[in-house]
Amino acid sequence: MFCWKEKMAELKNIEEAARQRNYIEKLKKYLEEKTQGQPRTYYIETLGCQMNAKDSEKLAGILKEAGYREGQKEEEADLVLYNTCTVRENANQKIYGHLGQIKKTKLQRNQDMTVVVCGCMMQEPDEVAYIRTTYPFVDIIFGTHNIFKLAELLYRHEMTKDTVIDVWEGTDEIVEDLPAVRKYPFKSGVNIMYGCNNFCSYCIVPYVRGRERSRLKEDILKEIQALSEDGVKEVMLLGQNVNSYGKTLETPVSFAELLRDVTKIEGIERIRFMTSHPKDLSDELIEVMASSEKICRHFHLPLQSGSDRILKLMNRHYTKEHYLELTEKLRKAMPDISLTTDIIVGFPQETEEDFEDTMDVVRQVRFDSAFTFIYSKRTGTPAARMPDQVPEDVVKPRFDRLLKEVQDIGKEMSGRDVGKVLPVLVEEVNQQDKTMVSGRLTNNTMVHFKGTEELIGRIVDVRLTDSKGFYYLGEKA
Ligand code: 5AD
Ligand code: SF4
Repeated sequence: MFCWKEKMAELKNIEEAARQRNYIEKLKKYLEEKTQGQPRTYYIETLGCQMNAKDSEKLAGILKEAGYREGQKEEEADLVLYNTCTVRENANQKIYGHLGQIKKTKLQRNQDMTVVVCGCMMQEPDEVAYIRTTYPFVDIIFGTHNIFKLAELLYRHEMTKDTVIDVWEGTDEIVEDLPAVRKYPFKSGVNIMYGCNNFCSYCIVPYVRGRERSRLKEDILKEIQALSEDGVKEVMLLGQNVNSYGKTLETPVSFAELLRDVTKIEGIERIRFMTSHPKDLSDELIEVMASSEKICRHFHLPLQSGSDRILKLMNRHYTKEHYLELTEKLRKAMPDISLTTDIIVGFPQETEEDFEDTMDVVRQVRFDSAFTFIYSKRTGTPAARMPDQVPEDVVKPRFDRLLKEVQDIGKEMSGRDVGKVLPVLVEEVNQQDKTMVSGRLTNNTMVHFKGTEELIGRIVDVRLTDSKGFYYLGEKA
């Protein structure tokens, strides 16, 4: 169906992309003259989730197009960019550690170094103010909504030598169509939506990534088609809550429908997606998954807590029973599926009984692996204002018990395919042993086996000879 509003937005975004390409050219020319043809290098440090990793590929694409080359060492680069995360307090601390180190390098060795800080943490005014006063050598600061403007901001900084700060509170703009570099030539993340409307009570993401905005299905399919023509075999569809994809579009589309259309694109052999929310996981999606070999047998379904009382306080909109039903349905439809999850320990008011409910789900579902987190108080979220925050000396032993359970079960689960011959998408030469290569099964488990560089990017059959807990050793079948 033709829609004027969507057409106008598309034209505006094409215009902005052209404007930014113009800045990339201007910056390139300026830098070439300044350095007399000597290439400048960049180093990007990315914290956080797959969304940030994808943003960093876009930022790297802009830098490369402007004439920068990738450098291997943070302290030797001409431009250092920190793409930050703020989902837990330790992510903030990591960035301050980096800034403390780079300060010395910039002041003592390379005063012409450009230091850029962007991403989720920069959407918080207090953090920006702190960086400005404590780390005044930072040259450019921007947030999550305008990463496409990197060349413009760099150009402005080069012209004025002023600190450039450009943080937007929110946006409807989805400016794609700009250069991006891929870390791997054969696999790529694809943004299908931005932001999140769920407001889980502990989570800062809706405040720093803004309201949910889905990309048009046609644009996503076009991008994946182009990736396939460029040699990509595996795509990871990215969004904070992919299960609610398309609900806010003028012409609503379901995630299952999008997924079905992606399976039809020739050349794409593996499809993954991240992240799902149990409240929006539909039967239709499970059917589409089960009916296509291309959709990987891996489901990451964040549990957060197994206690109905805590789930309510977390504003998650599902119960322990509903979560267990979903995982049963997934296993019934795809017996070989690998299930993984995220769990938070020590949410305000969590009692021993609530925690035991979480342990119970872990024992019943038997996850292949789980990311376990100690609850981190994020200022501005409703949970930060809740009474009865759980003290550290209560949380830590619970966390250790959970981790042990998750690891023991994970080891057993990940070894279940020993002896089988399964397809592996080879990703790289093994870091420790150069006579081996490393790749992934469709359920996302790593496999290492004897092989050479030529196998990179190919899907090969491998006999899984030995399970090492979270990875396999194998041999080419
Ligand atoms: N404290 C601890 N963990 C958190 N997560 C999100 N916010 C917090 C917080 N305040 C975890 C959730 C989410 C994952 C990406 O990070 O488990 O699924
Ligand atoms: Fe955060 Fe919940 Fe949105 Fe995930 S679904 S990003 S946990 S608010």
